[in-house]
Amino acid sequence: MKHFVHLKDIPIKDLKKILFDAKKRKQKRIRLNTLELDEDKPLKGKILIQMFEKSSLRTRLSFYLAIKQLGGGTITLRSNELHLGDGGESLEDTAKILSTYGDGFMLRTDSDKKVENFKKHLSIPVINGLSPSSHPTQVLSDVFTVEEIKKKKISKLNITWIGDSNNVLNSLIAASAKFSFKLNIGCPKKFEPKKSILNWARKTNKKIYIYNDAAKAANNADVIFSDKVISINDKVNKKQKTKSFQKFKINKQLMKFAKKDCTFLHCLPRGSEVKDEVFKSNQSRVWQQALNRVHVQKSILLYCFGKLR
Ligand code: CP
Ligand code: NVA
Repeated sequence: MKHFVHLKDIPIKDLKKILFDAKKRKQKRIRLNTLELDEDKPLKGKILIQMFEKSSLRTRLSFYLAIKQLGGGTITLRSNELHLGDGGESLEDTAKILSTYGDGFMLRTDSDKKVENFKKHLSIPVINGLSPSSHPTQVLSDVFTVEEIKKKKISKLNITWIGDSNNVLNSLIAASAKFSFKLNIGCPKKFEPKKSILNWARKTNKKIYIYNDAAKAANNADVIFSDKVISINDKVNKKQKTKSFQKFKINKQLMKFAKKDCTFLHCLPRGSEVKDEVFKSNQSRVWQQALNRVHVQKSILLYCFGKLR
């Protein structure tokens, strides 16, 4: 049984297989409507249970469409509507029921420990739909989007992240180690990524650089990524943290340090870290990036359900 919890734990050959499958499937359904099924209906009769303990728009919709297009279905739960939420039922028993009724479980939660506990007690695959430490489905899909736009392997490109050291960046660092791409990170000194994550990634990828200067990080970039400075449920002094990132805003001026054809990407939702002059420019491909979540999620589901060919 294959789980999809953190990119760092998934073999690169499997990640590449997922991307290859997503590309093939996306091409095959160019003329199909949103709810028309892929011809082979590989997940016919299967159900994905999704549970959200935090807000979501894209992840929720993309998993819904992904499993539908594969011939299966989904049901979405909110943990506060289950006995688990008010402490009336243990995680172990909840997991047993989820495994009895469902074929796969997608969880968005504020607790990495909870993901691990579900993984321990479920007998169906678990997919991490965002946790404090990672957002693996987002970042694998972003690798897909980068290669689709640039028509090159990501290992040949200069990737830059300007923003907070959060779950999305952790997964991007893991991806840079798996796919061997150069990664420049631009952030204030106080908000640099955890040493443990960097040390792990640098064992396989020496090309990860940290700059406390946005222009230096943006220098010669093929792609610039960003994300909100304040993540959902980020327990910080919001005013102070936002102030620390004052010099890390993505504006036209900053984009000039990157390559002329540099692409701007953002997982969304956005905050004030990017100016409209970039977000709404021709360099921004954020809507294509968001829609690609459906295509990559489909192949992640097939991987977890043991149906990836
Ligand atoms: N990017 C992303 O995961 O969006 P949602 O929080 O809306 O799911
Ligand atoms: N870092 C953001 C990503 C949202 C998709 C958060 O955790 O809120």
